[in-house]
This record gives sequence, structure tokens and C-alpha cells, in this order.
Amino acid sequence: MKQAIPSAQRYSLQTDNGKKIPLHDEAGLASMRAACRVAADTLDMVAPHVKAGVSTAHLDALCEAFMRAAGSIPATIDYHGYQHASCISVNHVVTHGIPSATKLLRAGDIVNIDVSPLLRGWHGDTSRTFQVGAVSILAQRLVGATYEALFAGIGQVRPGATLGDVGAAIAAVARGHGFSTVRDFCGHGIGRVFHDAPQVLHYGRAGTGIVLEPGMIFTIEPMLNAGSHHVKVSSDKWTTVTKDHSLSAQFEHTVAVTNSGVEVLTLSADERNKAFC
Ligand code: MF3
Ligand code: CO
Ligand code: CO
Repeated sequence: MKQAIPSAQRYSLQTDNGKKIPLHDEAGLASMRAACRVAADTLDMVAPHVKAGVSTAHLDALCEAFMRAAGSIPATIDYHGYQHASCISVNHVVTHGIPSATKLLRAGDIVNIDVSPLLRGWHGDTSRTFQVGAVSILAQRLVGATYEALFAGIGQVRPGATLGDVGAAIAAVARGHGFSTVRDFCGHGIGRVFHDAPQVLHYGRAGTGIVLEPGMIFTIEPMLNAGSHHVKVSSDKWTTVTKDHSLSAQFEHTVAVTNSGVEVLTLSADERNKAFC
């Protein structure tokens, strides 16, 4: 009987801060499609539950149950001591909000849910900012601009483009709407390793940085603030808030560089129906 010989992991000749950048083969890409579909489906599942009165711990429990039922493990559990299946960040919380039974959503809130299932050794990673009931015009503009910024970044991804092109496109959208981009957190390579090289900054100069090659897989996950880009980490060591307490929104997709351009691996059902990318 013929035995499938697992191909060795290939790496780019470029390094990022001395770290090797994996180039994934077709089998790796197929595994990533599956993990990323679980991630997208988790958010599709939880979306209708994001309503006034619900606790963020309840939403986290729904996400955890769904990820486990799909055969995956939430990669965030026991990750550097984190103990939850998702990060849920409300209003001025920029990222890494800890789900809590006492944190109840209220009409007018904007809430980011970020999930990272580990399926058969491969990681998916995606987040969306949801609106609870009717939100302010400012919140609507911020959420819309953040989504637009993510897709402006994705629109730059193709072989030969640079990560500087991605970051510059994101920051230009933010600036155009009068918002700032968070600098203290970035996207990341992803695959068998949850947070791998390269770092994907959400600002930068076009034409600079790592040159994209087919087989690279990374997240793009811009955080836009209504006020300044400055953030601070709370005493719980996770919850990160805007320094000026202004609103913050985030969207995250996991993307693969293909021979001809980009494949977005974490599209929602709605985005797939609209045939985005
Ligand atoms: N999902 C986050 C990201 O986009 C990482 C969360 S790590 C945790 O990279 F430990 F805070 F959950
Ligand atoms: Co990520
Ligand atoms: Co994430």
C-alpha cells in the first residue's frame, strides 16, 4: 500500500526579526481551510445570540460548545494562562476582553468576539464586531471603517506585494475616517503555530517590509479607535482598553497568499454568499 509521505515544512528565505516564515503546501492549506471554517462558523452561530441582557460568559460558553462539537479545541484555553474559549471586548475594550458572567450587554454596545479553534493541529483565527440594538452614529461609523480597513488590507495581498502595503492601506482608511489604528497589537502568521512569524502591522509604508510569497498564511486584525491610538493593559494582565476610554472596534480574518492573489479562509456565510475575494 502506498504511504502518504508528509512533506517537510518549507520556509521563506526571508525572516521576520530573525524568525522563520512558514510557506504552507496544499495539504497545509487544506487543513487551514477546515480550521478556519470552524472559526467562521462559530461566529455565524453566536451572532444571533449577541443581544441586550446576555452575559459575555454565556456567549463564550456557546462558542466553546460549538468549537468542541466541531472537533476542535479553543486554542486560547491555557494559552499563556488565558482560561476562556474566546475574547469578548466591549466598547472601549480594544482586545483580549475576558468573558464574565457579570458583564451584561446593553443596547448601544459594540462587542468584538474573537475565536481561535485548533482543529487537528491547525489554528483558525477570526473576530467580528457586533452591534447590540441601535448604536450611536459614531459607533456605526467606527465599526464600518474598521471593516473597510480590514478589506483594504486584504485587497493588497498578492505575491510580490509587501506587508507595508497591507499596513499602509489599513491606516489610510482609518485616517480617512478620522480614526486611529492601534499600534501595540498586530496580526500574525498562523498555522500549526497560533502566533507565528510574520508580524502583520496595521500601519506602515507601502513598498516596505516582508515581500509576500504564495504559501504564507497570516491574520489581518486591525483595531481602530475613535480617539487616540494609545491603549493600556488592565491589572488582570489581559483586558486592553483605550487610554482615553474612546470606542474601539476590530475585525480579523485569516488569509492565505495564493499563486494569483489571496484566499480569505475565515469568511462568514454572508461574505461567502456575496462572493468576497
Ligand atoms: N485571538 C487572538 C488573536 O487574534 C489571540 C487571543 S490570545 C488570548 O491573535 F490568550 F488572549 F486569548
Ligand atoms: Co489573531
Ligand atoms: Co483572534
